Amino acid sequence: MKFLFLVVCAIAALHTRYNGHAAQLRRVWMQDHCHHGICTGIDIGRNDYVILSQMPIAKQLMLTFLNSSIAKIPHLMFDTFPDLQVLRMENCSVEVFEKPQFEGASNLMSLFLGHNLLRDIPKNIFLGADNLHTLHLNHNQIRTLHNASFHALKELQEMSLADNQLAQLPLGVFAPLRKLLDLNLSGNRLSAFPRGIFDRNLNLTRINLSRNRFVAFESELFKLQPRLKLLDLSGNELQDLTLNFAVLESAICNNCDIRKLTVYGYVHDLELRNNSLRELPHIPHAANVSGLDLAHNPLGTLQGNPLRRFTGLQRLNLSSIGMHDLPEDVFKKQAQLKQLDISANSLYNLKFPLFNDLKSLQYFYFQQNNWNCDFLQLLMNSFVKKRDISFMEDTTEPELVDDYVDGVACWYESNKASKKCSGEGLSEAALELAIVRNDIKSFTEIVEKKFIKVYRMLDELKARL
Ligand SMILES: *[C@@H]1O[C@H](CO)[C@@H](O)[C@H](O)[C@H]1NC(C)=O
Ligand SMILES: *[C@@H]1O[C@H](CO)[C@@H](O)[C@H](O)[C@H]1NC(C)=O
Ligand SMILES: *[C@@H]1O[C@H](CO)[C@@H](O)[C@H](O)[C@H]1NC(C)=O
Ligand SMILES: *[C@@H]1O[C@H](CO)[C@@H](O)[C@H](O)[C@H]1NC(C)=O
Ligand SMILES: *[C@@H]1O[C@H](CO)[C@@H](O)[C@H](O)[C@H]1NC(C)=O
Ligand SMILES: *[C@@H]1O[C@H](CO)[C@@H](O)[C@H](O)[C@H]1NC(C)=O
Ligand SMILES: *[C@@H]1O[C@H](CO)[C@@H](O)[C@H](O)[C@H]1NC(C)=O
Ligand SMILES: *[C@@H]1O[C@H](CO)[C@@H](O)[C@H](O)[C@H]1NC(C)=O
Ligand SMILES: *[C@@H]1O[C@H](CO)[C@@H](O)[C@H](O)[C@H]1NC(C)=O
Repeated sequence: MKFLFLVVCAIAALHTRYNGHAAQLRRVWMQDHCHHGICTGIDIGRNDYVILSQMPIAKQLMLTFLNSSIAKIPHLMFDTFPDLQVLRMENCSVEVFEKPQFEGASNLMSLFLGHNLLRDIPKNIFLGADNLHTLHLNHNQIRTLHNASFHALKELQEMSLADNQLAQLPLGVFAPLRKLLDLNLSGNRLSAFPRGIFDRNLNLTRINLSRNRFVAFESELFKLQPRLKLLDLSGNELQDLTLNFAVLESAICNNCDIRKLTVYGYVHDLELRNNSLRELPHIPHAANVSGLDLAHNPLGTLQGNPLRRFTGLQRLNLSSIGMHDLPEDVFKKQAQLKQLDISANSLYNLKFPLFNDLKSLQYFYFQQNNWNCDFLQLLMNSFVKKRDISFMEDTTEPELVDDYVDGVACWYESNKASKKCSGEGLSEAALELAIVRNDIKSFTEIVEKKFIKVYRMLDELKARL
């Protein structure tokens, strides 16, 4: 390294007036701290006036600060590193911006300021960073933005404001960002947008609004965005949701308490985990849905062939939807289905015609059910293993299980004289029953739900004894 400049720290010799505060002049010789673009152990206080080098350090394209406490990005940063393209200053306790901050930063493409202590993005602060493509301000304490906070960022394509404390946004805040593709507002306190807030962001492609306080969502907001591909609304309370887009690659609303969902337009991938759906979403273009995640919804037994219009499904998740049976014709139109999850339900056995149409199935997850051992054996031999389909083993407590078929838990029916299952005498079965009951009693609340199922089965068993 040919730059001899820069030393660290505390040459507190000089006091100067800076920004109206008594500021301390410090020289931080970067050469002592930075090797191969990684700088460590740098400490810069809020009132320090910092000189980083005696002359510019050319050809340094990327800098990452680790284990440093930098209350503000030094004012001369981009004079010192005129070629800097990527600046990573995450987790450095950055509190404030200096003014001007980005003068001379016209080579800067990516700025990562996540996990800091920023509260405010002052007006016009990014003047000079007119080629910035990526700006991460996630995990700060930003409460307010101004109309001109992002002024000058005409090349910005990706911005993350995730995990801040934004409750409201001014109408013009995103207007300068004409090239914005990816906007992350996840983890804020937003409950509404001013009408027209995205009207200048015509190329917006991915927007993440998850974990905010929206109780309603208007697709109208994005009526000018023909390229919108991804929308994440997870963790908002959107009980009656209507989406209306030309073509969405992926619409996500996990943990939204949705009771009713209508999707106009095309959507390819729909994630609706942990909602309150009792019926399938209403989607006129259901045939174009290729991924559907309905896990943890109270859908129950899917009566009336509700999947018949979803003829293009490749991935379907029906885990934990409270099924104790599956109608024989439910997968009739699922010739393209590659991945099916029916785990964590109360399924006992199924009718075989169910599998006739699943010609493309490669992954089939059916663990954590109440399988009958005879049925399960048959399922394994005549379908799963025969077709070389991947499945998953069970993690149920062995004390509660009669047997496992290839790692999947199952229970025997006592009255059936099957060779494999009930070779044992009645008294032995009764004893086993008592042991299992005791085991059940000693278990904790967390798994109680599962036990209720087992209890019911044991009662049936006992009735037959
Ligand atoms: C972080 O910096 C402090 C003081 O500057 C130093 O004592 C510590 O060893 C550093 N830790 C790492 C992991 O570099
Ligand atoms: C931030 O730094 C602290 C220690 O300096 C570390 O414990 C923590 O994991 C870091 N967090 C992130 C998100 O990097
Ligand atoms: C913010 O910008 C919008 C349009 O971009 C304008 O209508 C509004 O008056 C501006 N507000 C302020 C406070 O400047
Ligand atoms: C939007 O993207 C297209 C294709 O990438 C590009 O031609 C167009 O200039 C972009 N529009 C704006 C406003 O950046
Ligand atoms: C959300 O933010 C993270 C970083 O904060 C980023 O990696 C991700 O791509 C962002 N965008 C979306 C649309 O979620
Ligand atoms: C939305 O942002 C959150 C937080 O950054 C992230 O965990 C989540 O994966 C993002 N969603 C998408 C679809 O990228
Ligand atoms: C399920 O969604 C509700 C909100 O409807 C949320 O409170 C709960 O934490 C979510 N559960 C899980 C396991 O994510
Ligand atoms: C919808 O599906 C039809 C039939 O498979 C296909 O021709 C069409 O291109 C699809 N449209 C979209 C937007 O996915
Ligand atoms: C289906 O959803 C459950 C619950 O969210 C999840 O554990 C499982 O991994 C999902 N299955 C697949 C195949 O992704």
